[in-house]
Amino acid sequence: MDREKESREANRKAFSARARRGDAAAREVLDEALETLIEWSHATKSDRVLDLATGGGYLARSFAPHVAWSLGVDLVMDMVVAARRAAHDEGHANTGFLVAVVENLPLVDASLDLVMTRRGPHHFADIRRALDEIARVLKPGGRLLVEDLIVPEDPDLAAWINAFEKICSPSHGRALPASEWRALLEERGFVVEHLDIQERSRDLTPVLQRSSAADRAKIQEALLSLDDRWAASLGYEAAGPRWTTHTILLAARR
Ligand SMILES: C[S@@+](CC[C@H](N)C(=O)[O-])C[C@H]1O[C@@H](n2cnc3c(N)ncnc32)[C@H](O)[C@@H]1O
Repeated sequence: MDREKESREANRKAFSARARRGDAAAREVLDEALETLIEWSHATKSDRVLDLATGGGYLARSFAPHVAWSLGVDLVMDMVVAARRAAHDEGHANTGFLVAVVENLPLVDASLDLVMTRRGPHHFADIRRALDEIARVLKPGGRLLVEDLIVPEDPDLAAWINAFEKICSPSHGRALPASEWRALLEERGFVVEHLDIQERSRDLTPVLQRSSAADRAKIQEALLSLDDRWAASLGYEAAGPRWTTHTILLAARR
């Protein structure tokens, strides 16, 4: 199977199961970044907005009261169904959701004022094509908001973390370092207006608990291979086990 197909299959499997468990919306209430994203977006009532990898539609629904309309796109039909149901229950008449992949958007050029994506990019099969598509569908002067897991700048540690995340969750593609986010956006003519990196403590216990015995063994083996320098830079505590993860929040304009 090619890499793109493999990524989509893994995402379909992981996120269909999550949506069917009714988990599409459960973790959203914990978000602390939403207010910052709304402030950085300069959203107005005339804005046409796209939420990529929308999942249960959290961002599309959260922005609905601030904009003309918002459209959420996701690869997984069960997520789109959950998002539609939630938008209907919340009474949003100006949101819609459709099944599509971010690397090939069924939207015309220069048709949107604001594109956003939250916790999706590290799952994408091809981040470069996704960013090309974002640049294509945004109007000149259009804005992009991103919230996503990132990795440290040290390329060896970054590769180790990405490989580790892939063992924990096959739908993981590749988290980027902050410098690569900036470079990829600037290559496509974006100006980064805000960039903030937030730390979160990540407890690995639930990952170990839900993994099969074979995956648990792989995870434990990987953790044993963490050298002291990397462990220190991740704030790793074997007693959790837990470490510190980093999330980028950024706003850019084309
Ligand atoms: C961690 S969830 C985030 C959902 C939502 N943005 C949120 O913040 O709650 C990642 C989502 O990305 C979607 N996804 C992964 N790869 C995708 C792709 N290439 N195109 C469209 N959606 C994708 C998955 O189906 C999943 O719903």
